[in-house]
Amino acid sequence: MLTLGDVILEPPAPGEMLDFDAIFGPGVPVEMEIGSGKGGFLLNRARALPDRGFLGIEWANKIYLYAADRMVRWGVRNVRLMRTDASHLVRHSIRPESLTMLHIYHPDPWPKKRHHKRRLIQPPFVAAAVAALKPGGRIAIQTDHAEYFEQIKQVLAGEPRLREVPFNVPEAGVVDGFVQTNFEIKYRREGRPIYQIAAERTA
Ligand SMILES: C[S@@+](CC[C@H](N)C(=O)[O-])C[C@H]1O[C@@H](n2cnc3c(N)ncnc32)[C@H](O)[C@@H]1O
Repeated sequence: MLTLGDVILEPPAPGEMLDFDAIFGPGVPVEMEIGSGKGGFLLNRARALPDRGFLGIEWANKIYLYAADRMVRWGVRNVRLMRTDASHLVRHSIRPESLTMLHIYHPDPWPKKRHHKRRLIQPPFVAAAVAALKPGGRIAIQTDHAEYFEQIKQVLAGEPRLREVPFNVPEAGVVDGFVQTNFEIKYRREGRPIYQIAAERTA
């Protein structure tokens, strides 16, 4: 029987790199979701693709435990959840060319100007994220915040190893334009606009 201990992954020690072959099995393609929240996206995607490994990174303790418990209840064996700061993890502990996809849905927008520096999507983070992707690997970002989206588009366009590709593709877990995270469902119900962008590592 699956237990929380099978799903939860401790953050790496300083200087340590995550070993996806050891975590998911040799050669298994790995997708990561940052800010995985209650785990709705990961649950659907991991159940649809049992031969892939999925790593969810979530900072908020209660929500991360809720998602981990959800994976246990559904018996999902190919998801690991880690409670840590994703920005630090991506910059310091993900091996180059080790991720097939990186999903970031509704990153905290930090709307006040004086808080913009806390936003996840900034050039150093994106450079590290691109280095972590395999060539041909994909980064997909969705937000409900128009002004943050402008920043996201600019940062992605400024990264020479990325080329924009369609967001709405079922192979990436997008069904009729929906990623089906908790925040997406809530915001669509409220009638908020949703902004989406995806890009692929070219070199
Ligand atoms: C607006 S919520 C979106 C959650 C989920 N992706 C969804 O769409 O329902 C943003 C989530 O990202 C998490 N988060 C924000 N910054 C983070 C970071 N640096 N590392 C890990 N998680 C982070 C927050 O705790 C929160 O759960």
